Amino acid sequence: MPLLSSSSQNSSLTNGLWHLEGVFMGIQPYLIVIDPEIVKDVLIKDFQYFTDRGVYHTESDPLSVHLFSQDGSTWKNARIKFTSVFTSAKMKAMFETVLNCTEGLKSALEESAEQMSDVDILEVAARYTTDSIGSCAFGIECNSFKHPDPEFRRMGRKVLDEFNLMDRLNLFMSIYAPKISQKIGVRSVQKEVSKFFLKSVSDTVNYREKNNVRRKDLLQMLIDIRNSGDSLSMNELVAQVFLFFIAGFETSSMTTSMTLFELSNNQKLQEKLRREILEVLKKHDNKITYDAVAEMKYLGQAIDETLRVWPSLSTLTRVCTKDYKLKNSDVTVDKGTPLMISVSGLHHDPEYWPDPDRWDPDRFSEENKQNRQLLTFLPFGDGPRNCIGLRFGLLQTKVALITTLTKYRVTLSPKTITPLGRDPETFVLTTKNRIYLHFEKI
Ligand code: HEM
Repeated sequence: MPLLSSSSQNSSLTNGLWHLEGVFMGIQPYLIVIDPEIVKDVLIKDFQYFTDRGVYHTESDPLSVHLFSQDGSTWKNARIKFTSVFTSAKMKAMFETVLNCTEGLKSALEESAEQMSDVDILEVAARYTTDSIGSCAFGIECNSFKHPDPEFRRMGRKVLDEFNLMDRLNLFMSIYAPKISQKIGVRSVQKEVSKFFLKSVSDTVNYREKNNVRRKDLLQMLIDIRNSGDSLSMNELVAQVFLFFIAGFETSSMTTSMTLFELSNNQKLQEKLRREILEVLKKHDNKITYDAVAEMKYLGQAIDETLRVWPSLSTLTRVCTKDYKLKNSDVTVDKGTPLMISVSGLHHDPEYWPDPDRWDPDRFSEENKQNRQLLTFLPFGDGPRNCIGLRFGLLQTKVALITTLTKYRVTLSPKTITPLGRDPETFVLTTKNRIYLHFEKI
């Protein structure tokens, strides 16, 4: 199958202005996009040629059909429908629900500070995010600090990290032979997981509808869409809610953990951030409010810098849906060719980010932002198919960091083995080594 049509074909070719690279995933060739100018064309300017992500899904496995995997006009219609769920106004309305989920986090940190014990921050952040997403997306109180292994989280782990032989075989088939897999009904979501989410979400929806219960959460917004006459079957509703959990859980939880890790290595910057948080809160009666969070500029910079050094997804993918001629070249990308954009590559390229491994939130100051080459910072992707949950992800991350830093000084435990490394087997960023931190009451 040709990857490119041009006078010469190679896995690496220089044509006109562009240097092009390719890679094989099994028998499937991918075009690797490196240049920010082509990244802009693919993600934004010529998006109509690259609407699909090429993620396996099949109707016989209802939870596999959601915004992340849907293609073409089906995706577009769904995206329009769900955009209203993530506006700033909706985030503001949901703020209290997120804030209420910090109770478990507060008690856990208090206990570990008293005992001066090591805190496995990946675990603690995961429990907080489970409570937050569980409450906001599913309307379920998980209390994961009290019940450390709720079924809900166990199911999440099963989808993302724990694969038995059959799961691996299914994954292999769906990536390398998607058409055959669709014909024979290969699943990408394990049966047990599918059954659990279909039952628990539909039970909650039915309960709310029967008892006229309303809550300020994502699930309520989807129920409202369903009741407003927009076509949204129960299976589709569950699949989208399921995706919100999968897409929002590890991404936000890792971002919280990695920011605390970087701050524990940079006490001066930690002080600077704490000063900002306390000053802003003072102006707001020492209450964490939506507007106070929005005022914390340095907090936003710190999270952006964490996402640059530790992006949750190291690559973005798109599939070319119509033959496409690359600008300023005689190269045509054939319909059906998948493209991969290396987010990690761009984020660590010294041409755009000098001394790229150094964590420095000042890279995101207003002034430095103005001078930055566009499309070299892509933690949430870009263009019409970027992360729809960006605001919510940032919100729950910021709330966790504010709750922590107002009360505790964070330092690295000697038990943490650095460099942390990256687990090569996970889709969403996970470090190879656990991160242990100390929390000292201020
Ligand atoms: C720090 C947190 C998060 C990060 C770093 C993140 C990152 C990403 C990235 C890189 C993409 C792919 C974008 C592209 O291909 O251009 C994506 C897509 C997506 N994310 Fe997020 N995400 C986060 C939180 C969330 C949350 C909280 C939700 C939902 C509650 C969410 C829902 C989605 C969905 C539905 C898509 C697919 C959008 C589409 O194809 O139309 N994400 N995210």
